[in-house]
Amino acid sequence: MCVKALLTYKAPMTDFPQGFAHYPLYFTPAEQEGLIKAVKEGIAQAPFYQPTMPRTGAPLSVVMSNFGSLGWVTDKGRGYRYEPAHPKTGAPWPALPEILGALWDKLTQYPARPEACLINWYRQAGDGGKGAKMGLHVDNDENELRAPVVSVSLGDPAMFRIGGPKRGGPTAGLKLFSGDVVVLAGEARLCHHGVSKVYYGESALVPKGGRINLTMRRVNTIGTPA
Ligand code: SIN
Ligand code: FE2
Repeated sequence: MCVKALLTYKAPMTDFPQGFAHYPLYFTPAEQEGLIKAVKEGIAQAPFYQPTMPRTGAPLSVVMSNFGSLGWVTDKGRGYRYEPAHPKTGAPWPALPEILGALWDKLTQYPARPEACLINWYRQAGDGGKGAKMGLHVDNDENELRAPVVSVSLGDPAMFRIGGPKRGGPTAGLKLFSGDVVVLAGEARLCHHGVSKVYYGESALVPKGGRINLTMRRVNTIGTPA
C-alpha cells in the first residue's frame, strides 16, 4: 500500500460498539404475524405518510407512521421532531401494542415505557424504484438519551450497519432477519447506524412486500409529560 493509501485507509470495524445487542429470531413466526396484524390496525388509524428531509424537502426512501403518545416526524419546514398527532390527519397516534411494551420492559432496565414507536416501511418501489434503504444517522432527537433504542425487524432481511459516534468512520454490518431484535444502549446509543440494503422478495410476511422496522424510543425524561 502506498503512503497516501495508508493515510486514507479506514480499517474495517470488526467489533460492534459497547451496548449493541442482537437477539436473532426473538419473535416466533406466530408472534411476527401478530405484530403485522397490530401494524395493519395501527395503519388503518394512522396511514403511512411520505416524510421529507429538513430544508431540502427531499423525500426519505421509507414511508412512516408511529405508535405511541409521541411520534417521530420530519418535513421540509420543521425538520426532525416528535409530535403527538399524525401530520396529515391530525389524529393522535395509535397506542403502543402490548407485545412491544413488554419487549421494552424485558430488554431494557429503563423504568418507564417508551412514548414513541416509529414504523418504517421499506418498499421495493421506494426511492423511485431503487428500493428503500436508510442512510447512516444518529438517533438524537430525544431528551432522554440514557434510555436504549429497541428495534424489531419484520419481513424482508436487511443489511444493518453501525459505526461510531463520529460521522464517516468504519462500520460493521449485520444481516437482520424477520423476528430479530436489536438494542442500542450504552455507547451504541449515539452511534451512526443505517440500512444499506434490503433483500427484497425474500419474505412473504409483509402483505404488500418489503420490510417493516419498529423502533421504540423514550423521548422525555421520567416525570416530563409526553
Ligand atoms: C432506524 O434507524 O430508524 C431504522 C433501523 C432499521 O430499519 O433497522
Ligand atoms: Fe435510527
